[in-house]
Amino acid sequence: MELKLPRLGNLFYLPTKKYVLRFMILVTGGTGLVGSHLLYALVKAGHNVRAIHRRESSFDAVKKVFSYRQDGTVLYQKIEWQEANLLDIIQLTEAFKGIIRVYHCAAYISFNPKKYYLLRKTNITGTANIVNMALAHNIDKLCYVSSIASLGQGNSKGVINEESEWNPNQKHSVYTISKYGAEMEVWRASQEGLKTVVVNPGVILGEGHWDSASGSITTRAFKGIPFMTKGIIAVVDVLDVVDVMQRLMDSQITMQRFVVVGHNCSYKEILGQLCEALGKKPPARYISKFWLLVLSNLDALSSFLFRTKRKLPGSTVRSLYSQDFYDSNAIKTTIDFSFRPLEQSINRVSKHFLNDCS
Ligand SMILES: NC(=O)c1ccc[n+]([C@@H]2O[C@H](COP(=O)([O-])OP(=O)(O)OC[C@H]3O[C@@H](n4cnc5c(N)ncnc54)[C@H](OP(=O)(O)O)[C@@H]3O)[C@@H](O)[C@H]2O)c1
Repeated sequence: MELKLPRLGNLFYLPTKKYVLRFMILVTGGTGLVGSHLLYALVKAGHNVRAIHRRESSFDAVKKVFSYRQDGTVLYQKIEWQEANLLDIIQLTEAFKGIIRVYHCAAYISFNPKKYYLLRKTNITGTANIVNMALAHNIDKLCYVSSIASLGQGNSKGVINEESEWNPNQKHSVYTISKYGAEMEVWRASQEGLKTVVVNPGVILGEGHWDSASGSITTRAFKGIPFMTKGIIAVVDVLDVVDVMQRLMDSQITMQRFVVVGHNCSYKEILGQLCEALGKKPPARYISKFWLLVLSNLDALSSFLFRTKRKLPGSTVRSLYSQDFYDSNAIKTTIDFSFRPLEQSINRVSKHFLNDCS
């Protein structure tokens, strides 16, 4: 029989005459792509959720994500928003009050070498602050959103999984280094007693954040992509990422990381499907790595001379030609998980894009 406890605001009254706080979950990066879809799933499941935001954060995309669902307007009101920068200990201390679980989704995403300091500060120091807070507040469990970027080199067949070892001698993007450093902070905290799970997603496909790092893929496909490359891209639906995170947090699994990649597909395949769903012409020609590296060097020169934003760093060119294959077998078998079909994800995301932006 379920024990019904009398409630007093945010407190439960226990027969032992002690007051305890209600089960409250903290989400970082709630205004971002993953965080906003996670917020919807958590409040929909009836959890009490606090989400941190920065003073300058915009809530438009979160509201957009909630608006895709019939109950979105009502459920959005249930989020408790609190201002806290990952780098502000005083704000974080406030945000952690009464928290029992943490989903750490906040990060700075950039492949621009000029942003190295900011990437290290936000992703490594920011994550160190979050896990230190979690330890200090005796948090029950923390889920960290890492990336396939922080996994190591593939085996002789180019297959990468959770066991792949990081090779410091390999060329890494500034983003990759920062995500690897952040993951190290999570493992350090787990050695100090924090229960943790880590997810390593590929490129995340999702609706509502059309200008974000991965959301802009749809926007670019809509505007027209003239060329494609012969590389392989590892993608996953944001709804799958959110499902996996919740399932792992509700399980007994700790101190493990999981590759979360639904599909390894060629650029021809993904751009073909995306352009078709958007009613646009797919790119018909390939561009060679040589010419893309020439463009990358011109981009670097222009950035140096005219202080323009880097659009095509060398690390992006390398990733566009990568032949690596990410193996998600561990998550599939450990929690008996099936990823959504790629076509289904692309059609859903494209439908929302056309409604929102065309
Ligand atoms: N998107 C992908 O394809 C992808 C793939 C693999 C892994 N990941 C990882 O997944 C996580 C979520 O990515 P996403 O796509 O949702 O990113 P996103 O849309 O760019 O959102 C990033 C979030 O982090 C917050 N943030 C950044 N700096 C902060 C700071 N100093 N203090 C507090 N909050 C801060 C942002 O807040 P504001 O709204 O104030 O900017 C935003 O809510 C990240 O850890 C990312 O590395 C993403």
